[in-house]
Amino acid sequence: MLVIIRRDSRQVSEEAARIVAAAVRAKPTLVLGLATGSTPVGMYHELVRLHTEDGLDFAKVTTFNLDEYLGLAAEHEQSYHYYMNEHLFRHINIPPKNVHIPDGQVPGGYESYCESYERQIQAAGGIDLQVLGIGKNGHIGFNEPASSLASKTRVKTLTMETIADNRRLFKPEDTMPTCAITMGIGTILQARRLLLLASGKGKDRAVAKAVEGPITASATASALQIHPDATVVLDRAAASRLRNRTYYQRVLKMTAKLTPNRLW
Ligand code: F6R
Repeated sequence: MLVIIRRDSRQVSEEAARIVAAAVRAKPTLVLGLATGSTPVGMYHELVRLHTEDGLDFAKVTTFNLDEYLGLAAEHEQSYHYYMNEHLFRHINIPPKNVHIPDGQVPGGYESYCESYERQIQAAGGIDLQVLGIGKNGHIGFNEPASSLASKTRVKTLTMETIADNRRLFKPEDTMPTCAITMGIGTILQARRLLLLASGKGKDRAVAKAVEGPITASATASALQIHPDATVVLDRAAASRLRNRTYYQRVLKMTAKLTPNRLW
């Protein structure tokens, strides 16, 4: 695992956008896994800037989002469909047919729908680079504590903690969904490269569990430890509980010197 520590959330966003942009330039047909939530907003903003000002080309890129709330229509302002259009897709040149986000309104038959989402990922050649955020309880996607570390796309019941964390984004009169369709940990681990972002003090415990804790279904982000190519980009606040911060900085310098391609 490569741990990159930057000063603040702005630098985390810039670093993440730099990595994604380099991946798109290196492979214009990149299959890109995407996350939502407050953390990657700045990264999307920077990717839009790179598209508009530097001509970063998404014409051949295919995307797969991690998750969607069960029961929300794509037009609902809190749906992840809406989020992705607002923050990224409507500002770049990705063909709509290349965009995949789980359908929160699939009418029953969840199991076969989730299997078809997995098949679409496989048919696209698998995910090259998966962007991830992390919940305060250590979840990635909506893989809440006790999710199987081999899980595939499925419906998950959200914990009360996640519901409370995300409630702030809904209008008071809105009913907050209590379930989501999410890629599983097994799905995420199949991506060729993982890029987890975290910023802010509120994420420090979850980050410490993910990076330095035991591999456990109680904090599903800890599964990153068994991935051969995972990069974690943190700001100082989110990294503040890591015991080996200084070592990670030395590793980063040495990686840049010995294998500059590894950093893209
Ligand atoms: C969203 C997702 C979630 C979030 C996590 C952190 O697609 O997969 O795992 O990344 O809940 O959310 P924020 O960034 O809002 O703190």
